[in-house]
Amino acid sequence: MNKIGVIFDLDGVIVDTAKYHFLAWKGVANHLGFEFTEAHNELLKGVSRVRSLEILLDIGKVKLSEAKKQEFLISKNEEYLKYITKMGPEEILPGASKLLDTLDELGIQYVLGSASKNAPLILRQVNLYERFIGIVDGNSVSKAKPDPEVFLIGAKKLNLKPEHCVVFEDAIAGIDAANTAHMISIGIGDKQTLSNADFNFKNLTEITSDFIKSLIKKTQTIKQK
Ligand code: BG6
Ligand code: MG
Repeated sequence: MNKIGVIFDLDGVIVDTAKYHFLAWKGVANHLGFEFTEAHNELLKGVSRVRSLEILLDIGKVKLSEAKKQEFLISKNEEYLKYITKMGPEEILPGASKLLDTLDELGIQYVLGSASKNAPLILRQVNLYERFIGIVDGNSVSKAKPDPEVFLIGAKKLNLKPEHCVVFEDAIAGIDAANTAHMISIGIGDKQTLSNADFNFKNLTEITSDFIKSLIKKTQTIKQK
């Protein structure tokens, strides 16, 4: 069967929320008395909320009790939500809506595979929630990317073998997760950073219908092996 399904990461692929995560984490760092730069923020892409706090505390060389860590996780998210709840469809990244249209035309189903616990809210804010046949988010997994769990659950929702799933990702941890799951990994963003991906594109505007069709052919070849 020449069937493929697509799993989309959310942050950095469909919407640019990294800038809001940055502002919220910067607030935590400043409160704790150290600087948090955009370069530091790169380290948090694709990483779970809890792991993000650990990385941030390492940067500031700050040690906190578990109770304090919980407090900061809550206050960071409250701050982040202030930005998220103001988002609208104009914040959908270039090419994303058109790619969903192309997939619809080709009869290819897609699900979300995100580390974010706020993913359903964000998708609703930008009016894309209803378009996905399934949502796998930070609430549905026990292991964060680069563990493949999030994408393997996505493949189940698509009712497809992992080899027939195509993952769009902007983070190294996500590309590694897709590769470990034996899925086709597509890196969106800097080619050097995402050099482990099977294919690389700067952004979703570069994804054509012909490219998607070539992926269908590719999965047929895999099957014949
Ligand atoms: C990922 C982001 O999609 O979600 C990370 O790339 C973020 O930067 C993670 O830490 C968790 O997000 P949230 O919304 O659950 O805090
Ligand atoms: Mg991402």
